[in-house]
Amino acid sequence: MDRVTYISKFSQGVTVKDIEEIGSKSEANNARDNLTGVLMCFKGVFYQIIEGTPTTLYKCLSRIKSDPRHEDIFILDIERNIEKRLYGEWRMKTVLLEGNTDPLVSPIRDLLGSLTNTHSKLKKYAPFEVLDGIQQGQNPLKWKMKRAELIVLFSDLVGFSTLVENADIDDVQKVLDNYFEVSLAAINNSGGTVSKLMGDGFMAYYPIDHAKSALQASVRIINGLKKIREKAVSPFEKLIYCSIGISAGQVVKGNVGSMVKMDFTILGDVVNSASRLESYTRTKKHSVIFDHRFKQCLPEDLRFEILDIGKLKPKGKSQTLKIFTVSEPNIPFDKSPVEIAKIMRSIKSTQ
Ligand SMILES: Cc1cc2nc3c(=O)[nH]c(=O)nc-3n(C[C@H](O)[C@H](O)[C@H](O)COP(=O)(O)O)c2cc1C
Repeated sequence: MDRVTYISKFSQGVTVKDIEEIGSKSEANNARDNLTGVLMCFKGVFYQIIEGTPTTLYKCLSRIKSDPRHEDIFILDIERNIEKRLYGEWRMKTVLLEGNTDPLVSPIRDLLGSLTNTHSKLKKYAPFEVLDGIQQGQNPLKWKMKRAELIVLFSDLVGFSTLVENADIDDVQKVLDNYFEVSLAAINNSGGTVSKLMGDGFMAYYPIDHAKSALQASVRIINGLKKIREKAVSPFEKLIYCSIGISAGQVVKGNVGSMVKMDFTILGDVVNSASRLESYTRTKKHSVIFDHRFKQCLPEDLRFEILDIGKLKPKGKSQTLKIFTVSEPNIPFDKSPVEIAKIMRSIKSTQ
């Protein structure tokens, strides 16, 4: 027998009547399928434990997962080969903790509340792949390193250190918030994974067959920042430009670190190349630069024209990279980082 524990959030508009309906349907089905457990509900959160033989248990779980009455389902634990049921008496005891004045219920409510908070925090910090693994009942800390073919994308804000030196802290925060909001939404909504934020930049990756999505996300980021510049009130916000480097190929993916601090990351030559290409945007004055390895992954039916912009020999590498950009968003840096720094200092001196 196995036991699964999860939490989820009520979908909008779920009522006490819906919960009662779920309770009675569960009782009937679970009696048929020899499943037992408990379903607790409180402040818009479901907390459920179900136990039984794997065949019927996982069938039931997959019905539950696709139920529109809840969302953000997060598996907390999958216990395999348990010998004894914890809730042998209950087909699915449904407990509404809301409004229950029993003092013993209060710590349970607190516990569920803190679990939900932990989950939403984890969602913000952990890469999608790690969260997905936890959802499947795996322990990502035990994952072994593996090779994978990926697209790797680096992005950075231009002239950020000069901004930090010259702008006031509220402007620094605003510029960073705007940049990450636009960028991370573009990556997440196009099937990419944000691997890490690094100060004023980030690294993201895509499956190898998502080249078009990666390029479209880059366009969305560049255009998103352009809109922010156009609407900007603060003179520093008018200088929000970013650069993007993209490469593709084999990486090693997995956990690095120690038991004190662990990071799920990707490593390899492709990662270094993407980072080098990102820096090279400054020299080439193009917002987006990618190499031939990424170009090969792009499909024919692109809205953009690909422009050959020469070659780059990364430091310490024997192989030369052929490099490219796209006609749109051909928003070259109309200002170089040096010019941006100069403008920032002049804004500062007139304030
Ligand atoms: C939070 C939650 C918990 C549920 N728990 C169970 C359950 O333990 N057993 C069950 O059969 N259905 C459960 N359901 C209902 C299933 O999602 C699904 O509607 C039901 O199994 C369909 O049964 P039917 O195919 O007999 O109509 C739950 C739904 C929700 C939203």
